Amino acid sequence: MTKTPESESSYDRRRLDQWLAGEARADGADRRDLLRLLAAAGLASAVPLGLSAPAVSAAAGPGIVKPLPPERFIIHGTNAETRFEALAETGHTTPVSHFFVRNHTTTPRVDAKTWRLTVWGDGLTGKARTFSLADLKRLPSVTRTAFVECAGNGRNFYTTQQHQPASGTAWTLGAIGTARWRGARLADVLRLAGLSHRAVDVMPRGLDDEYLTSTGTNYGRVRRPMPVSKALDDVLLAYEMNGAPLPPDHGYPVRVLAPSWIGISSIKWVGDIEVSATPLYSPWNTDLYRLFGEAYPAEGSAPLTRQTLKSAFELPWNVTLPAHRRHRLTGRAWSAAGAITRVEVSTDGGGTWRRARLHDPSYRGTWTRWSVPWTPDRTGPAELLSRASDSSGRTQPETTVHNTQGYLFDAVVRHAVTVAA
Ligand code: MTE
Repeated sequence: MTKTPESESSYDRRRLDQWLAGEARADGADRRDLLRLLAAAGLASAVPLGLSAPAVSAAAGPGIVKPLPPERFIIHGTNAETRFEALAETGHTTPVSHFFVRNHTTTPRVDAKTWRLTVWGDGLTGKARTFSLADLKRLPSVTRTAFVECAGNGRNFYTTQQHQPASGTAWTLGAIGTARWRGARLADVLRLAGLSHRAVDVMPRGLDDEYLTSTGTNYGRVRRPMPVSKALDDVLLAYEMNGAPLPPDHGYPVRVLAPSWIGISSIKWVGDIEVSATPLYSPWNTDLYRLFGEAYPAEGSAPLTRQTLKSAFELPWNVTLPAHRRHRLTGRAWSAAGAITRVEVSTDGGGTWRRARLHDPSYRGTWTRWSVPWTPDRTGPAELLSRASDSSGRTQPETTVHNTQGYLFDAVVRHAVTVAA
C-alpha cells in the first residue's frame, strides 16, 4: 500500500497549531523545548505548567548484552558503533555479531512469555487492546531487508571535515546496519485494535529505562510519534532479524521497524503504542531529532523523518597500503530516497573520479556494495573519496549544512590512508 506521506513542514505546523489550541499533548517533553517551539509564534507564555516528570537515574556504562570485540566495534558510552572495515567480512545483510547498537540506557531483559503489546488511546474506536507475541505471529508476516541508521551517523565529520562541532555521539559512519526483518504489519495491528478515522499520531514506547539527559532532565521512556500515514504505510512490528528471533540488544521480543526513517523511529522492546486523535509530542520530536542552528528557524526544522544519502569505504582509517600493488577498494552506498544509481571514487583527493562497480540490485532503504580497483603509484598520505547518487536525482554534496546536533550528515567523506613503498 502506498500513501503520500504528509509533507514534513505541514505535519509539524499543524501539530504546533493544534498544540497551541490545546488539542495536542506533550507528556514528558522538556518545557524549555516547547517554549522554543512557541517562540516564533510569540506565545511562550501560553505553555502549560507541569510538563516535566521527576528525575530517575538511568544506568551508566555500555549495558549491551552481546560481545563487542574491539576489532568490530567502537564503544561510545552506552552505544557500540560498527567498524566499517569489519563489514568487509559480511554479506549484504549485517549479522548480529556486527550490527551497531544505539541504546539510550541499557538493554532490558524482557520475557517473551509474559510480554504484551498494549495499543491504546483516543484514536481507537474502543478500549485498549493487548497482543501477545503469539497473536502477532498469527497475523500475516512480512519479510523486508532494510537498514536501521541513526540520525547522527557521520556526525563526527561535521567536526573533523567542516570544523563545525556538533553535540552528541561522535559516530563516524558505522551507526548503520542492514538486516532481513520479519514481523507483522503495524497497519494490521492498528486495524485489529480498532483504528479510528480520527487518529493522527501513533507513538510506540520502549520498555527500557527512562532516559535521563546529561543535564538531569528526565525524558521518560523512549518514544517518538509518527504520523498515522507512515504507520499504515510500511512499518513492521518485527520479531525476527536475519531469520532468528530478535536478539536482546536489538529489541527482543518485538521492535518497530520504520523503513527509511531515522533510527529513533524504530523503537526497540516496544511495550505499548498510543494512538491519538490529537497530535503528540515527546522530547524525541521536539528537542531531539530536529535541525537547529544558524540555517534553521529558532523553533528548529520539522521533526526529521527520512534518512539521507551516504557511502563509505570498508577500510580502516589511516590504513597503510603498499604502493605499486593492485588493491580492490570496497564499500557500501545507501539512500532513503531511492535506489543507488552510481558510485564514483576519487583516489587523488577529489581531482578525478571513476565509476565503481555496483554489486547488488539496489532498492530504497537498503545498501549496495561496490568496488573499484586501485594501484597507487605515489607514496605518502592520500585521501580516498566516494560519492553516491540515487534515483531521486541526488548526489552526495561536498559539505552538509550544519546543524547543532549533527544530524543527517550526507557529504562526501575524505578517507585518509597512507601509501607506503
Ligand atoms: N528504542 C528504545 N526503546 N530505546 C532506544 O534507546 N534507540 C533508537 C532506536 N530504538 C532506542 C530505540 C535509536 S536512536 C536507534 S539509531 C535505533 O534504535 C538503533 O537500533 P539498534 O540498536 O538495533 O541498532
